[in-house]
Amino acid sequence: MLGLMAGCSPEAATAAEPVAVAKGKVAVVYFSWSPDGNTRFAAETIAKKAGAALFEIKAEKPYASDFRACCDEAKPECNGKTLRPIQPVAGLDLAQYDVVFVGTPNWWGTMAPPVRTWLTQNLAALKGKTVCLFQTHGGGGMQRVGREFAEVVGDAATVLPPKAFAGASVKSNVEALDAFVAARIAVR
Ligand SMILES: Cc1cc2nc3c(=O)[nH]c(=O)nc-3n(C[C@H](O)[C@H](O)[C@H](O)COP(=O)(O)O)c2cc1C
Repeated sequence: MLGLMAGCSPEAATAAEPVAVAKGKVAVVYFSWSPDGNTRFAAETIAKKAGAALFEIKAEKPYASDFRACCDEAKPECNGKTLRPIQPVAGLDLAQYDVVFVGTPNWWGTMAPPVRTWLTQNLAALKGKTVCLFQTHGGGGMQRVGREFAEVVGDAATVLPPKAFAGASVKSNVEALDAFVAARIAVR
């Protein structure tokens, strides 16, 4: 049911009831680029609420540190759904986890390319697990991020309803991050 709801309308749906998960079986995997670390903050907060292990995805070659240069660099990759090479995610063994939250900034309306790469590379390891996307954005909201995340995951995993958080206010919105977790999982 949860999977069906998520599949029907990933942007609007909310989980009927939280998925029960054992303590220690939740991971949060994220990519973050800006010095503000909006997605990093969301990931850290979600991990704290869920009692989850936290892992960072890093591009093999870092993006330009200048905003405009980064936008120019990322645009063709985002539009072309390019799988930008990433570093091995330090310490992550997906076999240890049942639920995986995946965080990305909204880049050009979709997920940041390193997140697409990580997902694509780990579809087999995510088989049978439950995954849930969260993203931070600069005003565009969810755009195509949730839909494309669900498309990449396909039927490899159960996809819970994703959520978008405004980057500018995410750090003053811990309650919303906590509520996002509480609506999706019940850690026992
Ligand atoms: C390359 C690039 C593209 C972006 N594209 C969008 C966009 O299409 N829509 C949007 O709302 N915000 C966009 N943003 C803004 C980020 O999504 C937003 O600032 C986010 O919170 C940054 O997260 P971070 O601090 O974890 O990197 C873009 C930012 C960058 C650097």
